[in-house]
Amino acid sequence: MKEILDKYVIKDMSSWENVNADLVITDPPFGIEFSGKNGNYHRNADNVVSGYVEWSVPEYGEKIQQLLECIKKNLKENGQALIFSGWNNSNVIHEKIIGFNGLTLRGKLYWTYNFAPACKMRPAHNVYEIYWITNGDRWHFHNRCSTHHCQIGEPNLTTLNFKRDYKVNMPKYPTRLPFKLLQCVIEHFSNKNDLIFDPLCGSGMVGVVSHKLERNFIMGDLNKNGKIVFQHLLDYYLNKNGLIQDQKLMTWWKK
Ligand SMILES: C[S@@+](CC[C@H](N)C(=O)[O-])C[C@H]1O[C@@H](n2cnc3c(N)ncnc32)[C@H](O)[C@@H]1O
Repeated sequence: MKEILDKYVIKDMSSWENVNADLVITDPPFGIEFSGKNGNYHRNADNVVSGYVEWSVPEYGEKIQQLLECIKKNLKENGQALIFSGWNNSNVIHEKIIGFNGLTLRGKLYWTYNFAPACKMRPAHNVYEIYWITNGDRWHFHNRCSTHHCQIGEPNLTTLNFKRDYKVNMPKYPTRLPFKLLQCVIEHFSNKNDLIFDPLCGSGMVGVVSHKLERNFIMGDLNKNGKIVFQHLLDYYLNKNGLIQDQKLMTWWKK
């Protein structure tokens, strides 16, 4: 267990060097003054750990530039990256990728999910954009994954429909990505034993799923509380899988 925990390092994204990753999967802060503790999110805020580092709107472009530099210097020659984005600042991410010398935008995926802030005043968004970028002209891609995405109906690598998997009885990390979504992209974009890197890893979910799928991983975050959540998630997925029930979503909108 300690060996796996040590692959989560508390450090700034800009201080990584020569990781030589096959695949980067990363989910930058949204730039929306997000604390993860907002009452309109669908959970008890007391269970959510603190310490999430948000990026302010004025610095957002510069931070994305630093993230792209981090990706460039830590990818293998034919490595690739998937960058998640909420809708608010996705134009900034798009423009920065297009203008970045040495990384190529190959396409965009959309993750649709069962969660949206309770917005009474306007339609709520429940989609993330995922930018697919490559370092060179060659990359790994598998046509089929083993989730429902490819096992039921026609696989369509533009729209990924996965529910968030809430957990009970453990500390929570704001914006934790669900297991099956990560399984889907990891199986499509990497091979067994590949090295997967996430410099903004939060709960460390990218590492949990990589490990379960026999990929190697390395990751980091500035928030030391993220590592506490990672430890609980490892315990859940490696030791107690199935013993703690996933939380059923309340049907609050029907009341
Ligand atoms: C959207 S969250 C990632 C959530 C993660 N994908 C998960 O599944 O839990 C973005 C993370 O970036 C971290 N962060 C912000 N600035 C950072 C920096 N300069 N270096 C490292 N981590 C940073 C935040 O603390 C936060 O945990």
